[in-house]
Amino acid sequence: MRLRGRKGIREEIEAQPELIILDPARHRGQWSALFGNDRPIHVELGMGKGKFISELSALNPNINYIGIDMYDELLRRAAEKARASREEHGGDLSNLRLVRQNIEYIEQIFASAELERIYLNFSDPWPKKKHARRRLTHPGFVRKYIDLLNDRGEIHFKTDSRSLFEFSLNSFADLGLRMRNISLDLHAQGPRTDLIMTEYETKFYEQGLPIHRLEVVVGERALAEHLASLQAGE
Ligand SMILES: C[S@@+](CC[C@H](N)C(=O)[O-])C[C@H]1O[C@@H](n2cnc3c(N)ncnc32)[C@H](O)[C@@H]1O
Repeated sequence: MRLRGRKGIREEIEAQPELIILDPARHRGQWSALFGNDRPIHVELGMGKGKFISELSALNPNINYIGIDMYDELLRRAAEKARASREEHGGDLSNLRLVRQNIEYIEQIFASAELERIYLNFSDPWPKKKHARRRLTHPGFVRKYIDLLNDRGEIHFKTDSRSLFEFSLNSFADLGLRMRNISLDLHAQGPRTDLIMTEYETKFYEQGLPIHRLEVVVGERALAEHLASLQAGE
């Protein structure tokens, strides 16, 4: 078997500029131009090997998707997966970009109100208290997300970590954000086929571990629509 060294990985991802973006700051405020349309932009922060974003983007050609991670090898694997998902589901890759970026500096690659949805799937829990600021649902991060989301903005969050889920509930609540569809055991009645499972989720589900999930309604218009649907008894 031919093993790829670091150089091989770099060459492989550099050879796919139509899918993999290695200098994302250049597109700050210009992502719609890159996609060539004004469709909503949904982002997964910490996509790992990219199963979730590949499948979701294949199923929803009218939404533009960006998967972010910071490791070259994961970008390479995610690109492979994205191409395989198109073979399975059809369609092209024009609504997907895979981006190398440290999420700590997310504001360097997106402008205010540029995004409609942020997915946080199985983010590292950073269990030690002294590392709390690194959790991707720490208020320091969430404040950035609020700025980047538009008036239809939402955050969808899934984790197997009870402690991260509790921390995140407090973080969102402390910022006065409205949460909905809170679940402590997402697949209790069998796998939710309407929500795509991530790599980590599949593994934890097979181990019988409960998955926690919630949605945060951030944008004013999203919130108004949510409140109206509650009033209508939907
Ligand atoms: C536990 S994995 C989850 C992967 C995937 N979302 C899933 O559910 O299968 C967390 C991912 O987040 C990425 N990650 C963690 N911190 C990051 C950061 N600051 N910037 C970019 N990626 C990050 C890691 O490289 C890893 O791929």
